[in-house]
Amino acid sequence: MPKDIKSVDGTMNSRQDADPVSAFKKGHQDLLALCDQLEEIADSLPDQINRQKCLYAARALCPLIRTIDKFEEEVLFPQIKSRMPDNTVTPKTLTRLRFDHCEDECFAEELSEALHKLGKSSANINMETTGYMLRGFFEALRRHIAFENEVVLRWKP
Ligand SMILES: [Fe+2]
Repeated sequence: MPKDIKSVDGTMNSRQDADPVSAFKKGHQDLLALCDQLEEIADSLPDQINRQKCLYAARALCPLIRTIDKFEEEVLFPQIKSRMPDNTVTPKTLTRLRFDHCEDECFAEELSEALHKLGKSSANINMETTGYMLRGFFEALRRHIAFENEVVLRWKP
């Protein structure tokens, strides 16, 4: 059962106190819970929309993604890089992960606007396009998480 979107807060206070790998895993749990919520919204289109859930998702989406990406890029990735100085694959892999983050953050802004419109029952929203955006976003994010897990969990701090 996925966590409710209201409990996905995006703060990094508890993450900064924990070891980086534990904080990383917690971040991924929060992102996967968000993906589950977005999938539920996509499945509810066009006739069974929970408007309140759309508004919560619209508000949570960008801060959560940015906070977790920032932690990974500013805390975790430099540690991985410094512990594997002779590994030529790691810098390219970390660059790819940063590129994924950048794409996700741009897409999250568009999706947040669409979710806000859904939540407010806006007349000028295309349900088919919104469903396509939702599925494209959470499927790409789940792929990113799976790949990032392979990279980071191979690394022993
Ligand atoms: Fe990431």
